[in-house]
Amino acid sequence: MNERIFRDFPELKTVDTREIGSDRTIKSYVLRTAGLKEREARAIERYWPRYGLSFKDEPLDLPALFGNDKPVVVEIGFGMGAATAHIARTRGGYNYLGLEVFLTGIAKLLNIVGKEDLDNIRIMRFDAVEVLKHMIVDGSIAGFHIFFPDPWPKKRHVKRRLIQKPFAELLARKLVKGGYIYCVTDWQEYAEQMLDVFDSIPGLKNPHRGFAPPIPWRLETSFERKGVAKEHPINEVWVEKL
Ligand SMILES: C[S@@+](CC[C@H](N)C(=O)[O-])C[C@H]1O[C@@H](n2cnc3c(N)ncnc32)[C@H](O)[C@@H]1O
Repeated sequence: MNERIFRDFPELKTVDTREIGSDRTIKSYVLRTAGLKEREARAIERYWPRYGLSFKDEPLDLPALFGNDKPVVVEIGFGMGAATAHIARTRGGYNYLGLEVFLTGIAKLLNIVGKEDLDNIRIMRFDAVEVLKHMIVDGSIAGFHIFFPDPWPKKRHVKRRLIQKPFAELLARKLVKGGYIYCVTDWQEYAEQMLDVFDSIPGLKNPHRGFAPPIPWRLETSFERKGVAKEHPINEVWVEKL
């Protein structure tokens, strides 16, 4: 199934520039290689041409992409995408660019947004770090959503965590003034790392000082359900660009 999709949409096959021959950095993800189900492949065939975007080493023209100049929110690692679709549907004043490398999740989100004919979302299958570095213009993003980023709990893997100073600086650089970064995690120690990392960046402020109260427009995500089942605390972190 995946071969059929990769043949018809080759841009879905390559998820980072290592394969193109550069940027051999530590990655925040491990590719899950689940084969697509028939209905997931069909969702890609039907809706990728409308919602999908290929990686290109050139700045993205966001108003041209969405056909309007509403503020743009980027979500990193949307997983199965149900929360992403919910937010796009109910918080329609923004456009959303969803970044994920997990192909099944891409198919699932395409299926929801395609059936509902949502107009304010686009989707890329590529390493978010590289998309931000190569395609997103500084000072152009209204918000970042990063819900339940991989916690990489083992000590030797901590370096793979997304929320570290260089990445937080990159996020801050891409934000408009007053733009926000909104992260949620069920991993207490990572939540504290997030507070510390954002705190260390002079251009960002935390209006809540510590963790933020739950934000009503965020739907529970699939990884959140797993965390809650294990009785992990859910911590929200919201910071803004000065
Ligand atoms: C633990 S899951 C959480 C998914 C979803 N947000 C949720 O809460 O259910 C983290 C997701 O981030 C994706 N991811 C990790 N690093 C990424 C990166 N650099 N670029 C794009 N996606 C990434 C992974 O593929 C994975 O699906």
